[in-house]
Amino acid sequence: MRVGIEAITFAVPKFYVDMTELAERRGIDPAKFVHGLGQVEMSVASPCEDTVTLAASAGLKLIQKYNIDPNSISLIVVGTETAVDHSKPISSHVHEILNLSSKCRAFEVKHACYGATAGIAIATDWIMSRRAKGKKALVIASDIARYGANTPGEPTQGAGAVAMLISDEPKLLEFEPNYQGYFSSQVMDFWRPTYSKEAFADGHFSIQCYLNAFAEAYSMYKENFSSEHGEDLQTKIGSRFAADLYHVPFVKMAQKAHQKFTEIEQGKVIEKGMPEYDSFLQDFSSRVAPNLKLNARVGNIYTGSLYLSLFNLLEAKSEELAGKAISMFSYGSGCTAEFFSGIVMPSAKDIIKNISSEEILRSRIKISIERYERLLRESALADYNDADVSNPDHWDVSGPVLYLGTKDHRRQYSMSI
Ligand code: HMG
Repeated sequence: MRVGIEAITFAVPKFYVDMTELAERRGIDPAKFVHGLGQVEMSVASPCEDTVTLAASAGLKLIQKYNIDPNSISLIVVGTETAVDHSKPISSHVHEILNLSSKCRAFEVKHACYGATAGIAIATDWIMSRRAKGKKALVIASDIARYGANTPGEPTQGAGAVAMLISDEPKLLEFEPNYQGYFSSQVMDFWRPTYSKEAFADGHFSIQCYLNAFAEAYSMYKENFSSEHGEDLQTKIGSRFAADLYHVPFVKMAQKAHQKFTEIEQGKVIEKGMPEYDSFLQDFSSRVAPNLKLNARVGNIYTGSLYLSLFNLLEAKSEELAGKAISMFSYGSGCTAEFFSGIVMPSAKDIIKNISSEEILRSRIKISIERYERLLRESALADYNDADVSNPDHWDVSGPVLYLGTKDHRRQYSMSI
């Protein structure tokens, strides 16, 4: 049975900051943010935008642009680590806003940046069990990544949502569910206590945790692939991929991950100055870097980051990659990780033309670092009952769904659909 992605799109908040301006304001060489981390711009959510409004905007766009019948959806999963309530899931708000059928399962999933991948795994198994009976699953990744001003994590913030329709009509990407590889281990690399709006990270340790999880998950993928195809484990399975996608907390992390991947394939450590390092860089430039342009302009959107990179690939390279396998690596701090793969569908190139990432990003407005700092301060209050900071007129934001603050302990949303 075939299963995969039938439709994909994304939403970002109204505002962004320029990373050179942020670096200058912090007294840091801009080359560190732009070249050292690979980030050029960073999306920032105002107090009128939360993970409900971002998820709903992405979901609405998906339904409208791909002409999807809401009644065909019988499962909606929102992956997030930016919950708006300890009990009520984002999915119930989104279910209402998208006018989905009541004959639908709706829930939220959390495991740091892995949440949406967990949603996809659930949707894939549901469809492959044949209990979906032709119905589809809507999986939305929605997050606001925040470490706070003047922290090492600050240049690796971002905000956005990616919506994907998973079905037995994988018009964009067909999954290869027989070959997944996963890995879990309890590590304190990144976390956000319930009393804090901002995440804490042991930054350099988190990079090592990510790379270790990558090696372990890829090793399991190779075992599964080899046993299915009767090949020995020394086979360079990685050469079957025409492109490699990674979880992207910042662009340079994908380069580090791809170096690890190359080292595993070649069975040796590669260092700058070695001829192998130059060929690794060449390979990175052709199989990975072209898919990181959106991540460089949006920032870390946590669980949606891998799928933003997938959108980038489908939009730019569907024609060239039609019929070819691509790899995907999802990492959620804490940690759990998955290495999986899919085949780009020949129909993708015509279908994805419906959506322009440039148009989505062009609708954003650049704000000054002073305004961004004010926005961070006021956003910290936005979830308190009767806080008066989420007035769209104060922030000059508009959109199909906006957060208006919490009144009488209930979150209020405006809808102009
Ligand atoms: P830092 O310590 O400020 O930066 O924090 P650094 O000193 O490591 O420098 C960064 C890079 O810039 C280095 O490149 C420097 O050499 C370079 P590298 O050596 O690594 O290739 N650099 C320069 N380049 C050009 N010109 C210069 C210059 N100066 C330095 N003048 C860190 C960086 C990523 C640790 C920090 O931003 C952080 O803590 N971020 C948050 C944690 C994170 O993103 N971790 C990633 C792995 S964990 C993960 O992906 C999960 C996550 O998404 C959460 C989830 O799962 O929910 C985070």
